[in-house]
Amino acid sequence: MAFADTLIGWYEEHQRDLPWRGETDPYKIWVSEIILQQTRVQQGWDYYLQFIDNFPNVKALAEAEEEKVLRVWQGLGYYSRARNMHAAAQEIMSRHGGKFPKEYDNILSLKGIGPYTAAAIASIAFHLPYPAVDGNVIRIISRIFGVCDDISQPAVVKRITGICETHIDRNNPGIFNQAAMDFGATHCTPKNPKCNECPFATNCYALKNQLTEVLPLKKKKTEQRHRFFHYTVYVFDDQTIIERRTGSDIWKNMYQFPLVETAGEDNPFGEPTVRLREVLSHQIIHADFYVKSVENLPKTSDNQMVVAFPSLVKYPMPKIMTEFLKVLGQQ
Ligand code: ADE
Repeated sequence: MAFADTLIGWYEEHQRDLPWRGETDPYKIWVSEIILQQTRVQQGWDYYLQFIDNFPNVKALAEAEEEKVLRVWQGLGYYSRARNMHAAAQEIMSRHGGKFPKEYDNILSLKGIGPYTAAAIASIAFHLPYPAVDGNVIRIISRIFGVCDDISQPAVVKRITGICETHIDRNNPGIFNQAAMDFGATHCTPKNPKCNECPFATNCYALKNQLTEVLPLKKKKTEQRHRFFHYTVYVFDDQTIIERRTGSDIWKNMYQFPLVETAGEDNPFGEPTVRLREVLSHQIIHADFYVKSVENLPKTSDNQMVVAFPSLVKYPMPKIMTEFLKVLGQQ
């Protein structure tokens, strides 16, 4: 059986009972989709009913005081959703004569409506064949069709959208989209999907290849690590001490003032003279420089040497060092 038929067959038996199911009024579909953007169905249910009760149509919402709209929204969070809806309702009054626009592009151009919400409204209210691709849909498509690339890449989501466009039921795009969302939310769940009672079990790529735990593949952004560098800048006449960095760390073979790294932001040498920061791709360097005038320079270790300040330019140095020298020169 074709993908859409199987999906809709499942939906006819298992769809969730939701207060906006079967709704044809684009305004109410809009409200429900905006609420569900960042809120779970259970929590959103009462808010949806309250919202429709207070603002039964576009005109009522457009004419309401913003404070009232925010009060009804209170507790749902992400209040820009409410503010955007309020503004969009006013836009519908002024630009569309109070009628909810019927064309995908006009829906998409309303404040607070992105491609997913525009597709949901266009398909459910106006039967236009735009797939609404949310996290649920990304999961079911990547598992069933075997999309094994990183879904944090927009191109991969585009490919998934393309698969949906191929398979969407052109006679029932709204049902298809809601079926896909419900199937992902209640059956093909992130953890413990119900594969042993799944209508796609015989064709599902992830199940066949034991990849349900892996797909959809989402590579974690490598977190930026904070590092705390403390440089001692000895000053004896025009001389100071520098050292060469060794090992496999950043800035290998470059030169710096003697450095102590600490795990936290404690200051082992008291108040620094100068404090600088440098953001690298995977690290944020918090650099403290302690200028220390001395009667005698301390004994240098193997990787250290005594140099005159004017000679420092001859040594390759990380940017944070040259930045510091610039600041020092200005003092
Ligand atoms: N999540 C967001 N919108 C939905 C809808 N219309 N049906 C099911 N789940 C949803």
